[in-house]
Amino acid sequence: MIPAEIRSDFPVLSEVIYLDSAATSLSPEPVLAAMLEYEHVYRANTGRGVHRLAQVATQKYWDARQRVKRFIGAESGELVFTKNTTEAINMVALGLPWKKGDRVVTTLLEHHSNLLPWMRTRDRHGIDLRIIPPGPDGAFDPADLEREITPGTRLVAVTHASNVLGNLVPVREIAEICRDRGALLLVDGAQSVPHVPVRVEELGCDFLCFSGHKMLGPTGTGILWMRRPEIEPLLLGGGAVEQVTGSGYTLVGGPARYEGGTPNIAGAIGLGRAIGYLEALGMGEVRRHEQALTRQMIEGLTGIDGVTVYGPGATPDRIGVVSFTVQGLHPHDVAHLLDEEADIMVRSGHHCCMPLMTHLGVPDGTVRASLHCYNNADDVEKLIGTVRMIAGGA
Ligand code: ALA
Repeated sequence: MIPAEIRSDFPVLSEVIYLDSAATSLSPEPVLAAMLEYEHVYRANTGRGVHRLAQVATQKYWDARQRVKRFIGAESGELVFTKNTTEAINMVALGLPWKKGDRVVTTLLEHHSNLLPWMRTRDRHGIDLRIIPPGPDGAFDPADLEREITPGTRLVAVTHASNVLGNLVPVREIAEICRDRGALLLVDGAQSVPHVPVRVEELGCDFLCFSGHKMLGPTGTGILWMRRPEIEPLLLGGGAVEQVTGSGYTLVGGPARYEGGTPNIAGAIGLGRAIGYLEALGMGEVRRHEQALTRQMIEGLTGIDGVTVYGPGATPDRIGVVSFTVQGLHPHDVAHLLDEEADIMVRSGHHCCMPLMTHLGVPDGTVRASLHCYNNADDVEKLIGTVRMIAGGA
């Protein structure tokens, strides 16, 4: 059970019904307090100074990294703080040494952040980019995956959970195909890590990218986990070097190699605290809570005349991201009405997935309601009731 009292850790919930956590989640008071403590009590740079504030800051930054590693079961590999999932994916695309004709396989389910970096790699390096279309429910035909992931494919880049349709992608099966064919596997975990217990060893991926700000952490925080840290760092500079002379440099090993420049120290500390908060609730509980609310939402919305719900339906094998349209109304108009009539915050439009929207035949996009641990059945009832009213008047 998720205790109802946690809602008081998110004060804005007394003002609004927040159903836009797939875009960014709210941060609870203990996360804000941890960040403020850094500012008030021990603000200093990390990995550079020897004075006591610098030592405390360095230790807390290190603790935050360990906490994230434990959260995703990363006993080995390298875990690097980034500013978000987008930066993490771009670091891989820009850091791997490409050869003309290397094959990269991705899908039409992807967020632009897991599509554009590969399109640019195609345009710059002449890679062979394959984009597999999903069915209307977001699922893939295993034959398409088997066919496109040829022996010699360099990398497969796939989302773990769709930010539009909410379906979970069978990453473990894809990892097996990748292993057989000698391909690297990059998983965009932006929508899964905040909601589903994720262990990198079970997933079998080589890169896992996700965002802190969707998992109760601060904005400007993200993660790149790498099984083998073999990519070139994106940025070179202070903190990333071991030795510099007038004629050259040697880079340090470890995560600092990929974190040139002063990092988002308060952000990393806040993210570490957010993980502590989620762990105290229990990710299994978070998952069950959101699954029940998702079922309630889908069943309620599906029963309204003029409303179309997209995705795989009320299966447990999905996350709490529900896309729908209301006949005769633009998704932005529905989102405005939900806000004006009932203080309900949802996202509308293409959700950074324009090719998917074209593929689904909804060029104006959808309305998307998305959940996190702090939502409750009343939030969902209010959404269903207000959508019914809007659809009735459309
Ligand atoms: N990636 C975020 C979303 O899907 C911003 O809304």
